[in-house]
Amino acid sequence: MKKFVAASAPGKVILTGEHFVVHGSYAVAAAINKRVKVSVSPSEDGESWINSRGIRSRVDSIDEEFPAARTIARRIIQEFGEKTDAFEMLIESEIPAGSGLGSSSAVSVACTAALSKYFGAKLDDKEIFELSMEGERKVHGNPSGIDVQASLMGGIILFSRKTGAKSISLGKSIEIIVIFSGKKRSTSRLVAAVARRKERYPHFFQQLTDSASFQSLELVDALKVADFSRLGALFNIAQAELDWIGVSTDYIDELIERVSGLETLGAKITGAGGGGSIIAIPKPEASRSLLESALEHHEYSFITSFPQEGLRWEK
Ligand code: PMV
Repeated sequence: MKKFVAASAPGKVILTGEHFVVHGSYAVAAAINKRVKVSVSPSEDGESWINSRGIRSRVDSIDEEFPAARTIARRIIQEFGEKTDAFEMLIESEIPAGSGLGSSSAVSVACTAALSKYFGAKLDDKEIFELSMEGERKVHGNPSGIDVQASLMGGIILFSRKTGAKSISLGKSIEIIVIFSGKKRSTSRLVAAVARRKERYPHFFQQLTDSASFQSLELVDALKVADFSRLGALFNIAQAELDWIGVSTDYIDELIERVSGLETLGAKITGAGGGGSIIAIPKPEASRSLLESALEHHEYSFITSFPQEGLRWEK
């Protein structure tokens, strides 16, 4: 009889370079203080099950719930499991799906780690990354891999498809505010719409992709010396560019406008846009009052500091 195994992984925010990273630019992402926990224990009926949000679904069922977890579970069973290893998997998430805060990658990373350990497989970080990407592809189609790396590694990473992820050390701990607009959306649809924009305006799109790399390297420098005004300026420039590629909405523009009229130094979409979440840099000492204002209209608003821990084992 196998024992109980549990792992958790954080969600993430993208600070610069979302979308452009799919087309080869550098981008910067950071793990946040909201996590997904996956627990695995022996099943009592010889079948393997996934449980979350009060729904229970057999791993080999054809229903469409839990696409990332189901894909990973099937792969792990195929590779390491036998019938006697049937399990009950429970996913507990603090991150709303479709919010742009990396819930599917956190599920994928925690699920890969917990299940592989349950089956006695010792995977290194590269193997956890590759298997988690299979779950992420099921949800997002053509993910760059930045979400999975941020969730796995924690902290803040500079990422490109070509170079992979590099950890960035901070001058001092940094706080930002995150506001979920409440509008869920599909990352894969937005990524496809941006690809069409690129087809229509290939040269200017390429210039913006190069600019995203430049901004990401600038942002890393600003993080290293904790220059909040520079971070805010970089957020504002990124927002204008995300608007140009068509991933902002009227609702998000108004939200950014409202937040910019409060005590902030800069604000932008984080992740794929089309709704989802925004992030803002508060002026010094203004985090709490900003959070109170945000909570008046958006109940899923919170402050996160950086750095945050990546994948970890749980009791
Ligand atoms: O899933 P989201 O909303 O965090 O978006 C992921 C970031 C994109 O750059 C839009 C896609 C990707 O895979 O890099």
